[in-house]
Amino acid sequence: MSIEAKLLSANFDRIIPDSLEDYKRFGGYNGLKKAMNMRPEQIIEEIKLSKLMGRGGAAYPTGIKWEQAHEVKKFPKYVVCNADEGEPGTLKDKYVMDKDPYKLIEGMTIAAYLLGAREGYIYVRGEYKKSQEILRGAIKNAVNANYLGENILGSDFSFDLEVISGAGAYVCGENSALVESSEGRAGRPRMKPPFIKISGFRGMPTLLNNVETFASVPVIMDIGGEEYASYGTDYSGGTKLITLSGNVVNKGVFEVPFGITLREIIYELGEGIANGRKLKMIQMGGSSGACFSEELLDTPLCYKTAKAKGLSLGSGAILVIDDSNCVVDFAKCITEFFLHESCGKCTPCREGNRQLAKILDKFAKGKASKKDYVSIDRISNAMTNGSFCGLGQTAATALTTSLKFFKEEFDAHIYGRCLTDCCSMSEGEE
Ligand SMILES: Cc1cc2nc3c(=O)[nH]c(=O)nc-3n(C[C@H](O)[C@H](O)[C@H](O)COP(=O)(O)O)c2cc1C
Ligand code: SF4
Repeated sequence: MSIEAKLLSANFDRIIPDSLEDYKRFGGYNGLKKAMNMRPEQIIEEIKLSKLMGRGGAAYPTGIKWEQAHEVKKFPKYVVCNADEGEPGTLKDKYVMDKDPYKLIEGMTIAAYLLGAREGYIYVRGEYKKSQEILRGAIKNAVNANYLGENILGSDFSFDLEVISGAGAYVCGENSALVESSEGRAGRPRMKPPFIKISGFRGMPTLLNNVETFASVPVIMDIGGEEYASYGTDYSGGTKLITLSGNVVNKGVFEVPFGITLREIIYELGEGIANGRKLKMIQMGGSSGACFSEELLDTPLCYKTAKAKGLSLGSGAILVIDDSNCVVDFAKCITEFFLHESCGKCTPCREGNRQLAKILDKFAKGKASKKDYVSIDRISNAMTNGSFCGLGQTAATALTTSLKFFKEEFDAHIYGRCLTDCCSMSEGEE
């Protein structure tokens, strides 16, 4: 029996993505029709019952977010979808947009109905040209069929949706940077408060959710919050799209119920480690997530349990790394990624990433000493506690957690030895 649970992904590969008829044939728009016969409080209650938590990484409870957005009495309000998906190793939002775009559109329409919003925007990663095209086509079809636009389904509710092409920087996925970028400025995070729920797009109240979050709402409205929640754990309701990548046999995007273990994900869904190699390390939640060894493989997929073990599910990326890979080299790549993506607005992130990259370069060249551990500790603490946004606050996580689980590999580099022979120890300069 498969350990997948296809709720949100039920239509993947069974409908023609831009066919509204196909979408409706499999229950599409039942959620919106139900919602339009409910009071706002009832919609919010259903979302709360589902225990849906934001799927963009921060896992903020969606029912509470929608309630807060509803309570703000200032108009116009905007509904914005974060489809920036810049987290390396994450592909799940692209799957939703490419394989079942109406689910996202329906979820955003339900949100707009609840808030009385007239306009919504989907901020799609710049590189996802195909997804943008699919969404634009689906929006057009939805307008023609009166599921978007003026007087939706004969009611006095009207809602227009537009696609914005993203600016191509990881930080643009941070909610306030996304709003800045959507308004045509450089994508840099804003000072908070005011939070975007009060002053977001065009300075007006904005409800911003991830693609998977919005797309889960029609399912919840259709089957009911309680039923949805029952797929998961007491704390984490429902299902999660995960992106399984790296050295596993079977890579891809899968929808799984919360509560299954990482071992099941890697060895059942992923069919184990490829090429007969051994598992060395797992990184969960994308490049900003923790790296750990197989001793945590029996951790169930649940926001609370993961947190108790110092992990975060983040975007749901699970990267599997086999024993042919060097941990130091991996940490160096991740740090260089963050150095490249730092927007430069604040010193701990801008300079911290630069210094960490320099230190890791020393490790890779066999030039590091034990004193460098003290520097890593000091710099990563400054970054975690002093950075302006989540990028800098989490940029050192991969390094600090790899050090916790694989210290002997870093030590070996100090003594001029790379356990996988990938670092060229003689190239360095003093
Ligand atoms: C540097 C950075 C990048 C982020 N990138 C994304 C992203 O690509 N997609 C996303 O949905 N959330 C991303 N987030 C989280 C968003 O700020 C925000 O919490 C999320 O979109 C809210 O939606 P949710 O409540 O549905 O999760 C990012 C956060 C940070 C700090
Ligand atoms: S933490 Fe990094 S990305 Fe965020 S504002 Fe500071 S420099 Fe920019």
